[in-house]
Amino acid sequence: MTHLLSVNGISKAFGGNQVLKSVTFDLQKGEILGLLGPNGSGKSTLLNAISGFTAVDSGTVTVGDKRIDKMPPHKIISAGIARTFQLPAMPAKMTVMEVVMTAGTRHHGLWDGLLSLPSGRQAEKEDHQKASGLLETLLLTKVRDLPAAALSGGQKKLLGIACALMGDPAILMLDEPMAGVHPNLRQELAETLKTLSRTGISLIIIEHDMHFIKSLCERCIVLDRGHIVASCHPDELSKNQDVVDAYLGRGSRALKEAV
Ligand SMILES: Nc1ncnc2c1ncn2[C@@H]1O[C@H](COP(=O)(O)OP(=O)(O)O)[C@@H](O)[C@H]1O
Ligand SMILES: [Mg+2]
Repeated sequence: MTHLLSVNGISKAFGGNQVLKSVTFDLQKGEILGLLGPNGSGKSTLLNAISGFTAVDSGTVTVGDKRIDKMPPHKIISAGIARTFQLPAMPAKMTVMEVVMTAGTRHHGLWDGLLSLPSGRQAEKEDHQKASGLLETLLLTKVRDLPAAALSGGQKKLLGIACALMGDPAILMLDEPMAGVHPNLRQELAETLKTLSRTGISLIIIEHDMHFIKSLCERCIVLDRGHIVASCHPDELSKNQDVVDAYLGRGSRALKEAV
């Protein structure tokens, strides 16, 4: 596998709260990497740092040989990194389909569109087909004409994934994609993510559902108070004392229930 993303020594403090402490890890092409850790350990902040939503204090992030850690979020998206949010908010007046279309990064061509030139219409038609396909994949076809804000929390998560995929990312980062998703849909979502990874997309997934993580990931990294304390196969987690300590506090023995 080829090295795709390199995070080197990322640190971030909010006031006196040192949330990320020299975080270093790599992501390979086509890899599905689990990002684990107890609440407040810095997982979402790490995704925010990589995607440019939070400026880091020190450290570097590179995609291939391109430094992205000083770039604004829209340039990072153009560099091939898309992400979803832990608590997705959707515009009140747009339909599901409209929201996905807005996430298309292709330029329809203002003048082409205004003058109804074939190139503008063609690009829009292609985006529409792509959006329809993504809504189908993410089981949202039935709600495509409803206001996006009316979706359930789980459906909003799926819509967030559809939007992220409109830009054909090389790397997709998901912040707790399973939270709020109906149990019947979870297996299908796992299969969809596996299919994506087979097409060459690399994934970083923050998730507390260990069954989901074990079914998808060959490797997990575990954050504890801003430090990476483990990088291993998910089956190894329960035997790793640092992971047990992260979840249960030092000295605890009831580790099987946590991981
Ligand atoms: N924008 C922010 N301003 C101040 N503190 C923040 C901000 N974002 C996150 N934090 C703090 O960083 C810590 C880690 O938060 P977070 O990355 O959301 O953890 P996790 O996703 O692992 O639950 C928490 O103490 C949180 O309060
Ligand atoms: Mg979080």
